[in-house]
Amino acid sequence: MRIDVLTLFPEMFESPLSASILKRAQEAGIVDIHLTDIRSFSKDKHNKVDDRPYGGGPGMVMMCRPIFDSFEHVEKLALEKPHTILLTPQGQPFNQKKAIELSKEKRLILISGRYEGFDERIRIGLGAEQISIGDYVLSGGELAAMVVIDAAVRLLAGALGDEDSSKDDSFSEGLLEYPHYTRPEVFRDMKVPDVLLSGHHAEIEKYRRDQALKRTKQNRPDLLRDNPPEDQ
Ligand code: ADE
Repeated sequence: MRIDVLTLFPEMFESPLSASILKRAQEAGIVDIHLTDIRSFSKDKHNKVDDRPYGGGPGMVMMCRPIFDSFEHVEKLALEKPHTILLTPQGQPFNQKKAIELSKEKRLILISGRYEGFDERIRIGLGAEQISIGDYVLSGGELAAMVVIDAAVRLLAGALGDEDSSKDDSFSEGLLEYPHYTRPEVFRDMKVPDVLLSGHHAEIEKYRRDQALKRTKQNRPDLLRDNPPEDQ
């Protein structure tokens, strides 16, 4: 997969991209990530990329020209047609289903904005999907882009050490994940549940399923309402 990110702050991406799974996936050639500074496409002598909103109101709006120019520049750097995403609190909520969908794309272009938002013609003209990572407002789309990249890349074949380890993730079956334990068996009087030490695989599986359901009911009843498990 190839991912291009258009941003005013490429340096914000350096550390998340140079550690752990994202680092390994790039080194292994599973994903190729390129950062492009939108400001370097400004034609203005002050490198301006934003301007006041028509109709008045607070804040500044990201201008069309530098984003269209940077987009058209990176679009030509590879043959595959990109799936283009604008990170904005106005977008559809990001979730595991969307991460799985994006992980199947050959090529993504993510556009991170700053200020009040994007000129509407950017979304229309680039045919971009709008994605929000949650109902809160960040200072810009960079952290949101990193969230989307991380969630999608870890699903690519070979990105995780153990091929199976994304299968049981929270949300992948519409449920939160069951609780985990590792050594020691007792820590500060808290004991690992006996069933997990029993070696009885069917019982362990049942225990985990029950725990996943209980946790989901308690913490995220909305998940059960929206997507009831088949055996319930
Ligand atoms: N930019 C600012 N806030 C955001 C959010 N919640 N999701 C995506 N992009 C954003």
